[in-house]
Parts: sequence; structure tokens; C-alpha cells
Amino acid sequence: MTLVAEEAVVDSDTGIQSYLVTFIIRRFDPEQDAEPRWVDYDVEMYPTDRVLDALHKIKWEVDGSLSFRRSCAHGICGSDAMRINGRNRLACKTLIKDLDISKPIYVEAIKGLPLEKDLIVDMEPFFASYREVQPFLIAGSAPEPGKERVQSITDRAIFDDTTKCILCAACTSSCPVFWTDGQYFGPAAIVNAHRFIFDSRDDAGDMRLDILNDKEGVWRCRTTFNCTEACPRGIEVTKAIAEVKQAVMRR
Ligand code: SF4
Ligand code: FES
Repeated sequence: MTLVAEEAVVDSDTGIQSYLVTFIIRRFDPEQDAEPRWVDYDVEMYPTDRVLDALHKIKWEVDGSLSFRRSCAHGICGSDAMRINGRNRLACKTLIKDLDISKPIYVEAIKGLPLEKDLIVDMEPFFASYREVQPFLIAGSAPEPGKERVQSITDRAIFDDTTKCILCAACTSSCPVFWTDGQYFGPAAIVNAHRFIFDSRDDAGDMRLDILNDKEGVWRCRTTFNCTEACPRGIEVTKAIAEVKQAVMRR
């Protein structure tokens, strides 16, 4: 952590130091702005605060028009993915103490999706790709009456990693192929297809592999690993894409 001593303030009651941190946020109001513009805000923050706390302070105390999405504030809902110092991250999981606050912190919307306002993008193209891979269990037969569909621990482990996805779009919007080609399914859709393709209880794997064998499917991936680096859930996204590629080849 890089802290700026002359800007540190010690709370006389708690003894905890706070710091004046500069945030430079890419703002865009479609009703007023022809182009996005960068706006500076100085915010008093504790090292244990998150970037989301700074956005709340700005919205509640400085400018109520600042727009961003968030819900859980605990890394679960996936709604506050944004670019922080050029890296896709969840604002609610990015601690001030883990950033270099000797310099301004740049915050902007994720890339590759239409910008709606400030830090909000239109997620519909992202969810359209997600829906297209049919991310739900499709079983060819009903389980025995009163019984569950049994699965071994080993079979469950095959797709455990991809069950962790929270659909934040950090991976897809960090992918250079997705930036340049709005048609590519993108890493998140493939991760969610993987979750069912490798589920022993599912019978629609071939159908999903057909969908992803399309020219806008897995073969557009250039293995840049941006997606794996961006994922706030630690999912090995590039590995999951490679496993889907192998499954297409093996058929
Ligand atoms: S794979 Fe990771 S980065 Fe991509 S949408 Fe899911 S949680 Fe977000
Ligand atoms: S607000 Fe829910 S993941 Fe950050």
C-alpha cells in the first residue's frame, strides 16, 4: 500500500488514519454530453474502505447524479463490475489499501458494451449470449419417482469451478475479441455452457457444443487470459474455454 503521509488524518476518537484519495471518474450523461468526460473527486477514505464506498460517498455527499449499479456490496450479485485503474474489478471487492493512492484512481465503465450513463452499460448483449447457450439443466428423462438425480463427487468436481460464476461480465468485457467483434459469445457464456456440458445429469451437451462450434463461438478465443485475470471469483475461465474446445474436437 502506498499512502501519502501529509494527507493522512487521524481520527481523535478511534485513532484510525484516513486519507484524502483522488478518484477520476469517466462520466457520461446521454442527455447532456456528446462524449464521456473525466471528473475529479477528492474523498476521505480509510484503508479498509472499498472503491464502492467512495462511489457511495460521492453520490450521497457530492453529486447525486453519479450513476452506477450495485446491490449486495459483498461480491455476490455481480452488478458492480467496472474498470478500476484500467483493470476489470468489482468495486465492492477492491480495497483502498490495495491501490496506490499516491496517484489518482481512475474509474470507468466496463468496455465492449453500449454505455448508458456514467458507470452503467447496457448488459442485454451480454445476457443474450448467455441465454443462447441454454444455461439450465436439460435432462432426457425424469428421475425415478421420489428420487434425486444422483451424481458422484468426482463427476460433480468436473464442473465445480464454473458453477461459481456471478455473471458480472468482468471476463467478457476484458476480452479483446469481444471489444472488436460484438458477435462473439464471450467468455462468460462459454463458462456457463461449460457448467452444463460437463454435468453428467444433463443430456443437451451436444446441442450446446453445436452452438459454440459456430463461427462466433469458442474458436474466436485467442487465449489471451484477460478473462481469467479479470474474474473476481477466481474461475479459470481460459481453462474452461479450452475444455469446451477439446469437447468439440473429441466428438
Ligand atoms: S466467469 Fe468470472 S468474470 Fe466472467 S461473468 Fe462469471 S464471475 Fe464474472
Ligand atoms: S455489489 Fe454485488 S458484487 Fe459488488
